[in-house]
Parts: sequence; structure tokens; C-alpha cells
Amino acid sequence: MARFYVTTPIYYVNDAPHIGHAYTTVTADGLARWHRLLGDEVLFVTGTDEHGLKMKRAAQANGLSPKEQADVYSARYEEAWALLDISNDDYIRTTEPRHHKAVRALMQAVYDNGWIYPGTYSGLYCVDCEGYYTETDLIDGLCPVHRRPVEFMTEENYFFRLSAFADRLVEWYSDQPGAVTPESRRNEALGIIKGGLQDISVTRSTLDWGVPVPWDEDHVFYVWYDALINYATVAGYGTDDGRFKKWWPAVHHLIGKDILRFHCVYWPALCMAAGIEPPRRVSVHGYLLVRGEKMSKTAFNQIAPADLVADFGVDGYRYHFLRDQSFGPDGEFSYEGMAARYNADLANNLGNLLARVSAVVAQKCGGIGPAPRPESPLAPLASDVYDAAAAAWEKVAPSDALEAAWRLVRAANAALEEAEPWRAPPGPEVDAVLGDALEVLRIVAVLASPALTRASAEIWRRIGLTQPIAEARLPDAGRWGGYPGGLAVERGGPLFPRHRD
Ligand code: ME8
Ligand code: MG
Repeated sequence: MARFYVTTPIYYVNDAPHIGHAYTTVTADGLARWHRLLGDEVLFVTGTDEHGLKMKRAAQANGLSPKEQADVYSARYEEAWALLDISNDDYIRTTEPRHHKAVRALMQAVYDNGWIYPGTYSGLYCVDCEGYYTETDLIDGLCPVHRRPVEFMTEENYFFRLSAFADRLVEWYSDQPGAVTPESRRNEALGIIKGGLQDISVTRSTLDWGVPVPWDEDHVFYVWYDALINYATVAGYGTDDGRFKKWWPAVHHLIGKDILRFHCVYWPALCMAAGIEPPRRVSVHGYLLVRGEKMSKTAFNQIAPADLVADFGVDGYRYHFLRDQSFGPDGEFSYEGMAARYNADLANNLGNLLARVSAVVAQKCGGIGPAPRPESPLAPLASDVYDAAAAAWEKVAPSDALEAAWRLVRAANAALEEAEPWRAPPGPEVDAVLGDALEVLRIVAVLASPALTRASAEIWRRIGLTQPIAEARLPDAGRWGGYPGGLAVERGGPLFPRHRD
């Protein structure tokens, strides 16, 4: 059985989740669900990043201890993911003992391998990034990501000999051409590496909210060098060697472009230094923009997933972000755009197909769904659509996968309009057209199920299929001819009520 280990970033618990975090998490969930349909053994993990200076300051501002702050906000992420039907197999919090164990073990290995030395560090620090910058990185003297002032920091700490890994990283990138996608992001990572790497401080002596350094308990690890290791923790590093061998290094990280340098430069180098293989694949997406600006906790232009779920439902929410926002470039989010797409794709196309078919089956076939034609004119299209959807998920292009499935929805609606079975007398011609349309509904429900977690099951139920859709297995369930016919078809209310604003 193939294995699929997919991760999201672990999110900071300084504030509540917004649709930017949900974008990565919903995409990872869609991928996990697709791979489960393929029959793969899946490990899908998300979680929270709970140490560091930014967290400590957020807790102080809220009058909470860092642990209380972490508990409250980690729970808010978990709630958001439950609301969005996120099917994660594990939820990692960096304050957990298993993670402290993994961080200490992995960093001790790096230390024992001779890649860590003591020194003094001074530099310009962005607390929101939890990262150092050089003068030339700044834009108008401000952090290039958050556009906020940086702070001059100086401290005694331990350094990771990152500079020693430049050649090995370049070699790794040329041996693994698909390791970082899209290509433009791979080139960006290579540019950082070739531009010269400086050793990086990996501990803090001025902070106590972190994982204690095993060889010097007065220090804690710098939050990024704790956070990145979560991916190894979940795989069993430091606690379960058998499990770690099973899941590592075939891990697939999904991240936003804001954290590219950590995942595509520091993390593979750290893995090399610890004597483990770097992650097999990192897929980098752009920003969700609201009126042209990156939506973020620090810019105060956040939209909470729950607000949109209230208006569009869980399926409407998931479908929108998977379909509308291609994975890779930045994309503008607008409420009007979401309403328009919901009405066009869900209410008018898919919802209408189901409503028409079930109504005409009730009128002309006594409520019993006919079987599709093996030689249906829609069969070749269905086959192309399956292949396109499978290729798209493989490339982490959910929007292309869903676009392909909707080609089939539109074709089935067009075939119905052409044949007008609602005007024709009952008989083999009407049966043929309706059987084909039911088969399209069956296939589209499967192909769209990574997005439409609820409507897909409801479509199956209404067309009389009793097998849970989650038990469907690709490629068979995606191929033409699976609808048996002879099943009772239910006429229900609108699957996607039209949205009015
Ligand atoms: O960086 N558009 O956590 P974080 C798209 N704890 N995606 C967005 C987004 C936006 N406007 N805003 C956030 C951290 N994201 C670290 C990660 S991992 C070992 C540690 C998503 O809470 C995107 O995935 O700032 C981005 O990379 C991530 O949230 C940053 O979340
Ligand atoms: Mg951030």
C-alpha cells in the first residue's frame, strides 16, 4: 500500500485562525482525502506552534501565562478545523512532551555531529516573523513581511553551522528536481542558498518559553528550530524508531511563501546535520489577499472561516477556496466573488443537475433510477475528466481537479437540455438520458468529495447508493459504468440553496 504523509505549517497561537490558515489546511485536507480514495495509507497532520517571544508577548498582553495562551488559542484552531471538516489524523502541539523529546534528541544529534558551536549574535529581529534580517532585507527600514519595525537584538547563544551546507543543499536540489514546487519557488530557494548562507543562532538565553537545550539547560531552542522539528516528532522521531522509518522521509509539506526560507533552506540543512534525509516534497502557495493586501493577524484585515461558513455552508466554503484560489500564485478573496461562484457552480450547475434528474426520475421512471448506457456519449469525457483530476491532485492543483469535474457536470446538464426528458414520454430514451445523468452525479460526487465533504455523501444517498462514499476506491469508482440502476432516487430540497446578498 502506498503511503502519504502530508503536513500543514503549525500555526502560531498568538491569535485566532483566519481564512489564510484555513486555505493551507483545507488544501492539505483535500489532498489527504484524495489519497484515501486512492487507497493510500494516509498520515495528515496539523497543529500549533506555541513557543517563542511573539507568543510570550501575546500572552502578556492578554494577561495569561504562555501555557494558558497556548491552550486557549490552540483550541480555537482545533475548533476551526472541526467546523471545516478537517480530517487530520494527528494534532501536534509543540508544548507536548513527545515534541520536547524529539527536539532534544534531534538537536543533540546535530550537536554531537559537530554542527553547533557557542557564540554571540547581534542583528535586526522581527518578532512577528521570529526571524533575523539584514539591513538590505528591510523595506523602508521595516520587516519585509509584516511592514513593522524590527528590533536590534544581541545575545549569547549557540549557532548552527548553516554555512557549511550550501554545497550539499545545491546538490540536493539538483538531485531532487521536484522537491520544491512550483519551479519559481524552487528557484527562489536556490537563490537564497547561492546568495550565501550565514550560520544561524538556534538558541535563546533571554527567553524561558521554549524547549530546554539538553547540553545547556539555561538556554531554550529558538522557536523555528523547535517548530520545524514537529514534522519529525509526528513521524515518531525520538519516541518510535519503527514508526519514523515508516513515514520518513516521504513527507509532503504544504506551506505559504512567507515561510519558504525556513522550510526550503534551514530545514533540509538541519535534517542533513542530524543525519536524516530532508523532506521529499515542499509545495509552496501564495497569499490570499484582501483588497490587494496579505491578510494577516498583524494587519488586522482577517476574515474568520466561521463567518463564511455561516453564509455558504462547509461545502460552499471548502469548494470556494479549493476551486477559486489556484495553488501557487497570490489570489484576491472577495465575498462577491465567492457568492457568484457559489451560485454558478454549486446552486446552478451541480445542485440543478441533481434537482432536475431526481424530479424527472420521479415523474417518468416511478422514482427508480435507470442504469447508464455503457456507450454513452458522456463516457469518453468522464474518462478524460478522471485522468485530469488525478493528474491535478498529483500536482497539488485542486482547482484544476474541480474544474475538470465540472466539465462533466456542464456536459450532463447540456445533454439533458438537448434531450428534454421532461417533455418526452416515458420509455428507453428517457431512461438512457437519465441513467447517464445519474452516473455523472455518482462520478462527480466521488471526484468532488475531497471538497464537498457533505454534499457528496448526500448526492450518493439521494441517488440510492448505500455504500459510504468514503469507502469508494479510485480509479474504479471514477470510471464510467458504476451506477447499477434500479435504485430508488429521492427528491429532496435544494442541495445548494441560491445565495442572495
Ligand atoms: O509561520 N494567505 O505560523 P503562522 C495564504 N508558526 N496563507 C496564509 C495567509 C494568507 N494571507 N496567512 C497565513 C508560522 N497563511 C509558523 C509556522 S511551521 C514549522 C511553523 C498560512 O501562524 C500559510 O500556510 O504565521 C502560512 O505559511 C502560514 O499560514 C503561517 O502561519
Ligand atoms: Mg505569520
